Amino acid sequence: MRICCIGAGYVGGPTMAMIAAKCPHVRVDVVDLNSERIAAWNSKDLPVYEPGLDDIVSQARGKNLFFSTEVRQAIHESDIVFVSVNTPTKTYGIGADRAADLRHVEAVARTIAETADRPKIIVEKSTIPVRTAEVIQTILKNNGMGLNHQVLSNPEFLAEGTAIRDLSSPDRILIGGEANDEGHRAVETLAGVYATWVPRERIITTNLWSSELSKLVANAFLAQRISSINSISALCEATGADVDEVARAIGTDSRIGSKFLKASVGFGGSCFQKDVLNLTYLCGHFGLPEVSAYWEQVIQMNEWQKRRFTSQVLKALFNTVCGKRIGIWGFAFKKDTNDTRESPAIGVCRQLLAERAKLAIYDPKVSAAQIRADLGLPPNDTSVEICTSAEAAADQSHAVLVLTEWDEFREVDFTAVHARMMKPAWLFDGRNVLDHELLRQTGFRVRAIGKDPSPSTSHSSWTA
Ligand code: NAD
Ligand code: UGA
Repeated sequence: MRICCIGAGYVGGPTMAMIAAKCPHVRVDVVDLNSERIAAWNSKDLPVYEPGLDDIVSQARGKNLFFSTEVRQAIHESDIVFVSVNTPTKTYGIGADRAADLRHVEAVARTIAETADRPKIIVEKSTIPVRTAEVIQTILKNNGMGLNHQVLSNPEFLAEGTAIRDLSSPDRILIGGEANDEGHRAVETLAGVYATWVPRERIITTNLWSSELSKLVANAFLAQRISSINSISALCEATGADVDEVARAIGTDSRIGSKFLKASVGFGGSCFQKDVLNLTYLCGHFGLPEVSAYWEQVIQMNEWQKRRFTSQVLKALFNTVCGKRIGIWGFAFKKDTNDTRESPAIGVCRQLLAERAKLAIYDPKVSAAQIRADLGLPPNDTSVEICTSAEAAADQSHAVLVLTEWDEFREVDFTAVHARMMKPAWLFDGRNVLDHELLRQTGFRVRAIGKDPSPSTSHSSWTA
């Protein structure tokens, strides 16, 4: 059997590397139009930073895993074609800022229709709006060689930073197919690939539309939990409750569960916002404005949380950060990834730059060029310094803002950092990862998400 995957990104690369490593009898070709990205996949500096990825790629690359720009050849030679291209939020025309932009999916469907000279199994791996398989089927039927291709939905649930763990031991594999004999056979063929290492009971099969919709809904539910706990973080700060204690107290209820209840400066990443927006658009499209408005609040709360964080920084620093150096610890949207897409750090930094702060940014995995591009800085900019250590970013700063929960931030010598900061030295923990009591004893003024801003003073009761 031969498999190819169109799109060598954060999903296509790791997912196919896992299939190749687990199925040595299957040849896997990962293809992309972006030749730089392909060159990086073929080098020792992979384009994606992901713990454990290097090992798994080096196990299979050159044996049964190949990266190239030969899209048509790979389609031609494969039995199963995964489509793992980007499906960003549309930025123009009808549905701008909400609907998914499906032009890459459509382009790939057309290329497959023109290239395939025998029936193939086409697998939607990209996250797409419900009923996209119908679009792909229509393009294949009308532009191809009269062949009966099968379109399956097989959404990916990996999270960045834990992709290898998620891929090697997934909670479930979801496969949706057409409800007829050919559809069932195609689903079984794909299920057989995963069954090489995933227990059969974890492979769920559904109809096409349930599978497509489940992916959007899974992301919406996860994002909703973060917005819910973040909304409560504001109430905790006002009342003296502690959001981590509340999360623990509610999370031990097995009906609620403990995961995705970590309050933060806001969720980021390429998918949560995009997929919730897409869900709101679909609801509007299908005449369900109340459902759309319900999910819209998940995004609104996330935006508010980021603004609220920056406002607290501004207020603490005597309502002006103009000309003040601020240390930024972490720029990636979460730890253990170099991905900055929709990172909350981008919004917070932009708001501080609009207030004319001088930023000293350190992230262990994100490149200086990426940070500058994300902040839209001109080449001659002097408002941002990219530092090579957390200590350097804190040096002479009025405040340090923890925006990504990198483990190394816990290991910093805070006494030494405090000594080299401007006073009063502020620490804003946007991820609740540091020991706030110890920091206060060291001399820092500390603000953290959902924590009492002045723990020594007692709060007045609302009934007073
Ligand atoms: P990405 O931007 O990292 O990669 C997409 C790749 O597709 C790019 O390298 C691009 O050059 C390539 N591409 C676009 N059009 C092409 C074409 N016509 N022919 C060949 N290559 C083409 O995106 P990603 O993060 O890997 O996400 C891909 C899809 O998976 C999205 O729909 C996303 O929502 C979904 N997803 C992402 C994650 C994640 O953690 N990033 C997790 C689950 C699902
Ligand atoms: C998320 C989902 O977890 C994956 O299942 C899904 O496949 C993927 O989106 C996708 O479709 O792209 P990812 O965005 O990589 O994965 O990472 P998450 O761990 O979900 O974190 C997303 C954001 O939420 C990060 O900014 C993270 O810091 C934040 N977060 C997460 C919180 O603020 N609190 C939490 O409790 C959990």
